[in-house]
Amino acid sequence: MSVVNPVRSAVILIAVAGVVAAVAPLVLDQISDPGLPSAVRNRLTAEQDAKREADRRHSYNPAMSLGNSADPLLITRGLQVPPTIDAVTGVYADAYSSMLNFPAYSVERFVQRLRFQQAEATFDIVQAQAKGTLVGFAFGNTLTREAHWWDDLEPAEDQEPDVDLDQPMFLLRQLAVMREHRRRGVGRRLHDAILADRGEPRASLLVRPNNPARRLYLKWGWQTVGHLQPYPDAPRFEALVLDLAS
Ligand SMILES: CC(C)(COP(=O)(O)OP(=O)(O)OC[C@H]1O[C@@H](n2cnc3c(N)ncnc32)[C@H](O)[C@@H]1OP(=O)(O)O)[C@@H](O)C(=O)NCCC(=O)NCCS
Repeated sequence: MSVVNPVRSAVILIAVAGVVAAVAPLVLDQISDPGLPSAVRNRLTAEQDAKREADRRHSYNPAMSLGNSADPLLITRGLQVPPTIDAVTGVYADAYSSMLNFPAYSVERFVQRLRFQQAEATFDIVQAQAKGTLVGFAFGNTLTREAHWWDDLEPAEDQEPDVDLDQPMFLLRQLAVMREHRRRGVGRRLHDAILADRGEPRASLLVRPNNPARRLYLKWGWQTVGHLQPYPDAPRFEALVLDLAS
């Protein structure tokens, strides 16, 4: 009959843990192996996360210029190469995944709006592709007085709406980047590309006041002019404008 010696068992356990820790870097792709001690698994997960983050940051360096062959992100403007509705919708569904249950944000409504908007003569679109796959887009069109876009604007407190209705204005209708491709400057590059060399002296957009994108827009120079609810089941958006002339 064998008797379990607690000291001997502890020594064996420590030795096994040491061997596992030593070979751990070799099994990065087996982190989910339930046999690994949790401390080792946690360390490997953290190492893998750090590696992914480093790869991500290197992959789209926003300092690189458009057209640099080392730049893996291809930004194209206009409809010379029209993206398919399916590709745009796929990016939308990913970018707005947390909002799709709200009727105004459903995929069906997005497609309806997109079909209508892209039929407008002034429709403009910028696409970002990584390795041939659409990962982000920005699009919009020109607003004129006849669009009555500002009719229901509630001006920001103590502020006259600084919106000259006699001047055409570019309406940035949508800017979206797939979640996996965010925080590498793709959004900024799409934003800058769609607004570059525009004929309109100003641009406008609507953003939910609690959308983290709002902070980005303010950082990128946009100014709040008030609030607007463009259709009955839409949120009460914050309306922002950007001077394109200066
Ligand atoms: C808003 C949105 C388009 C931004 O896209 P993005 O590609 O993440 O934008 P950027 O990378 O240019 O900027 C985002 C942040 O990444 C940072 N960043 C840019 N390049 C970076 C890099 N190489 N490494 C680390 N961070 C970087 C920016 O400084 C910015 O940081 P901050 O949030 O601390 O200010 C994206 O979040 C999105 O699709 N949201 C859902 C759709 C939406 O709400 N759209 C707006 C409708 S009005």
